[in-house]
Amino acid sequence: MLNNKITGVRGMEILDSRGNPTVRVYVELSDGTEAVASVPSGASTGENEAVELRDGDKSRYGGKGVLKAVENVNKVLSEVVMGMPAHEQALIDKKMIEADGTENKSNLGANAILGVSMAVARAAAESAKVPLYQYLGGAGARRIPVPCMNILNGGEHADNSVDIQEFMAIPVGAPNFREGLRYVAETFHTLKGILKKRGLSTGVGDEGGFAPNLKSNEEAVETIIEAIEKAGYKPGEDIAIGLDSAASSFSTDLKGSYELKWSGGGKKTDDDLIALGEEWISKYPIILWEDPLAEADWEGFRKFTAKLGDKVEVVGDDIFVTNVKFISRGIKDGTANSSLIKLNQIGTVSETIEAVRMCRDAGWRYFISHRSGETSDAFLADFAVAMDGGHLKTGSASRSERLAKYNRLLEIENELGSAALYYWK
Ligand code: PGA
Ligand code: ZN
Repeated sequence: MLNNKITGVRGMEILDSRGNPTVRVYVELSDGTEAVASVPSGASTGENEAVELRDGDKSRYGGKGVLKAVENVNKVLSEVVMGMPAHEQALIDKKMIEADGTENKSNLGANAILGVSMAVARAAAESAKVPLYQYLGGAGARRIPVPCMNILNGGEHADNSVDIQEFMAIPVGAPNFREGLRYVAETFHTLKGILKKRGLSTGVGDEGGFAPNLKSNEEAVETIIEAIEKAGYKPGEDIAIGLDSAASSFSTDLKGSYELKWSGGGKKTDDDLIALGEEWISKYPIILWEDPLAEADWEGFRKFTAKLGDKVEVVGDDIFVTNVKFISRGIKDGTANSSLIKLNQIGTVSETIEAVRMCRDAGWRYFISHRSGETSDAFLADFAVAMDGGHLKTGSASRSERLAKYNRLLEIENELGSAALYYWK
C-alpha cells in the first residue's frame, strides 16, 4: 500500500506576474511529502470560464484579494480531501466539485479548487518518486512540445495600437526542443534590434513579447517575418507564425460584429474577418490561428474552419473554455479543429485531462496554454509533456514566470535524453 494519504492542506495569498493576488496551496502527505502549486490568472477571459473567486473588498488590492478562496482551501477543501490517497486524483477532484455544488465553481472558487488539485498531483508524483510529467502522462510521455513563442503582444495584453493579442513564432523546423527554443529566442532578440532601430518601443507586454505602436496588424506580421529572416531562419520552413486574435476583445456583441483599430479600421462582420484571414494565410506562413472570431460567434467560427481549417490549426479558446460541454458542441458543429487547454478555465486537473481526451478522440489538436497572469510555478511544462499535445504556448523569451516553463522543458528534454521526441505534427 502506498503511504500517501493527505494529512495537510494549506492555502495562502501570493501575487502573480501582474502583481495581483492569486492562490498558492501546500499539501502534505502521510509519508512526509510536501508539495506546493500556484494558480495562474487570465485577463482576456471567456465569459463561461470557471469562476475565479475574488474578495471584492475594495480596500484590499482594489477588490482583487483572494482571502475568501484561501479560507475555502483551509476550512472547506482541506476537510474534503483529508485522508484520501493523493494518487486518487479523479476522485479527489470529483469530491471537490461536489463540495462546491455549482456548475462554474463559483461557490468555493476555481482558484481554490485548482490550487488543491495541482498540489495534490504534484505531491502524488513526488511521493511515487516519478517526475510529474511521467506521473500524469505515463511511461510514454516523451514528446517535448514545440514552443509557440508570443514575441509581439497587442490587444488586452498591451497598451498599443495592435488589435491582435498574440503573434507567435513557431520553430517547426528545429530538430529538438532546445534548438527550437534557441531559434525563437534569437528571433525575439533580433526583433528587439529592428524595433529599436525604427525608434519603436521595446517595452514588453504581459506575456513578455514586445508591444510597439505599429501602424497595423500587417506591419506586426511583416516585422516578425523580417526578424525571422534577419536571425538567419527561413519563414515557414524553420519558423512559422501563429496568431491569437482574441477576437472577443474587439467584438461589440461577441457574435458577428467587430470594431477594429487596424487594417483600415472601423466596423467589420465575421465575413470580413474571414476574408482578411484568407488573404493573410495566402500571404504569410501562418499555421495556427486562435480565436479568429469572438466567443459567441459559433457560426463565424464554423465558416472560418470550413474555409481555412485545412490550411491552419483553428484553435478555440474563449469559445470552449476547456469545457467538454462546449468542446463537444464544437466537434459536432465543425466549429474549429483544435481547442486551447487552460487548467484554470475549468478548475481541476482531471477535468482538464477530460477536455484533452475529448479532443484526441475527435482527431482534434489541443494547445496547452499558460495565462497572461502567471507565477514561477512550472506545472504547465510537465502537464504539456504528459498530455502529448505536441505544442504549447507560454509566452516570450523574457519575464521569469514565462522562462520558468521553458527552462523546465529544457530540464525534461535533458532528463529524457535520446528518448525525447520533438516534431510539429
Ligand atoms: P489570458 O490570455 O490569459 O489573458 O486569457 C491568453 C489567451 O487569450 O490565450
Ligand atoms: Zn486566447
